[in-house]
Order: sequence, then structure tokens, then C-alpha cells
Amino acid sequence: MTNSKRKGRITVPQIRARKGAEPIACLTAYTAPVAQHLDPYLDLLLVGDSLAMVVYGMDSTVGVTVDMMVAHGRAVVRATKQALIVVDLPFGSYQESPQQAFRTAARVMAETGCQAVKLEGGREMAESVRFLTERGVPVFGHVGLMPQSVNTAGGFRAHGRRDEEARRIVADAEAIAEAGAFAVVIEGTVEPVAREITEKIAIPTIGIGASPVCDGQILVTDDLVGMFTDFTPKFVKRYADLGSEMQRAAQAFADDVRKRRFPEPAQCFGVKAPAAAE
Ligand code: KIV
Repeated sequence: MTNSKRKGRITVPQIRARKGAEPIACLTAYTAPVAQHLDPYLDLLLVGDSLAMVVYGMDSTVGVTVDMMVAHGRAVVRATKQALIVVDLPFGSYQESPQQAFRTAARVMAETGCQAVKLEGGREMAESVRFLTERGVPVFGHVGLMPQSVNTAGGFRAHGRRDEEARRIVADAEAIAEAGAFAVVIEGTVEPVAREITEKIAIPTIGIGASPVCDGQILVTDDLVGMFTDFTPKFVKRYADLGSEMQRAAQAFADDVRKRRFPEPAQCFGVKAPAAAE
């Protein structure tokens, strides 16, 4: 099913209104051609800072800059007409103060044309979320496993197994929702915690490794289509194998070049195609 009946982009209030109603389908996009392919089918596209690993081969999202997010955000906005576009605020660009968060978010929105920003954090970010939303910046929250905190969390693991941690994640999601976020990502979190949050808060929960109880789901597109294979988390389901398909095409091309089978007359200028055999 596509969004083809929709006139213009889905809006932040429309996403919010889907709470407990129709599930919300979201994916990441970092480039114009990929965004263009995804746009008709998705409700929300996230220009995620996961581009650090997926596009730039970095070890974590910590090295991403605002300039990188602006460049990719602009490309995705230009290539799309229907999905809501959200751009991640990168590590170090918003945690210092609500004012810093506002300056970064305003720059990202003005320079990309995106409709909202995403930031990681719970109770400690609630004041900033309120500051932004009261000043016209829609905020998508992110709790549970937070990749920008990988150095303090000590790696990637499922969150919420211990009772104290479970209480903390629920309190984080509640704080972000009360502060005005329009939706919240729950990442790498056990099902009972995702369920409790989804039942308690008034905004949509978007799960990634947080079970089907959430109001919507998001995955990294390159994981979904088999383009990024360095590390595949348990929660990823692979729907295509474009990596193998690309290798096959590259091998066939190289073979044709080496055997002088490419280019053929059809791909040349000023070369007559041989007459068809009678
Ligand atoms: O950066 C990202 O891609 C994300 C999603 C996976 C939620 O934050």
C-alpha cells in the first residue's frame, strides 16, 4: 500500500493522532535516491545519525557533526513529497542546554526543510524538549538503548531486564511525553517495558528492537535491504539482499570490461550497430 492518496506531506499532528489507531511505518534515509524510493510507502523517514556507521564506516554515532546531518537532511527533504522527515541532532549539539538545543534544531530545520528533529535522552532532556516544543520545534524522543551514550552504557545490549533500569526507562519516556514530544523511539528494550510505556503515555511509541506492542516500528533501511552487513542486530529482519545483488552486478561488469564485451554499440556514440543477420 502506498501513500499515493495523500495530498502533501503527513504532518506531526497526524502522526500523533495515530496513537493506538493505525500502526506507523518508519525507516531511515540518508540520500536522495533512497529517500525517493521509500517515500511512497512510509509515514516517516528519519535522517538518522546511524549514517555514521552505515554511510561513513565509523564505529559509533559519536563522531557525527551538524554539518553532516544538514547535508543529508537537505538531500532527503528535496527527494520526498509525502513522508514526514525527521533529522537527528548529533552528539554534543544539544545536551549542554535548552538554548544550545534550540540553536542546533533551528539551524537543522531552516537549512534542511525537515519537519522535526530527534534527540536522545529521558528525564535529563525533558527541559530541553519543553523549550523546543514551546518555540515551534517538533521533537521526536528516543529512550532505552541510546547509541550516542554507548561509551557510558558500555556497549549495545537489551535494556530494561533489571527492575531499576526498567523503572528508569519508563520514567524517561513519561518525562519526554509530558514535555511535549510528538512521538518517542524505544530502542533495544524488553517487551514488558515497551508495553508499559505504550500503555502509559499519550504519544506514539516507535519501536526498534522493542517488540510489536509499540504504536509503530522503525529500522535502518540498509539493514532491511542487506546493504549494511558489518553487524546485524537480533531485531533486524532482512527483506532483501541488495548487497549480494550489487556484488553480482559489479563482478559481471568487470568481467565484461576485461573481455571487451562492454560497451556494446547501443552504449556508444558514432558507432553503427552491426546489421541484423538475415
Ligand atoms: O540513527 C538512527 O538510525 C536511529 C534509529 C535507528 C531509531 O536513531
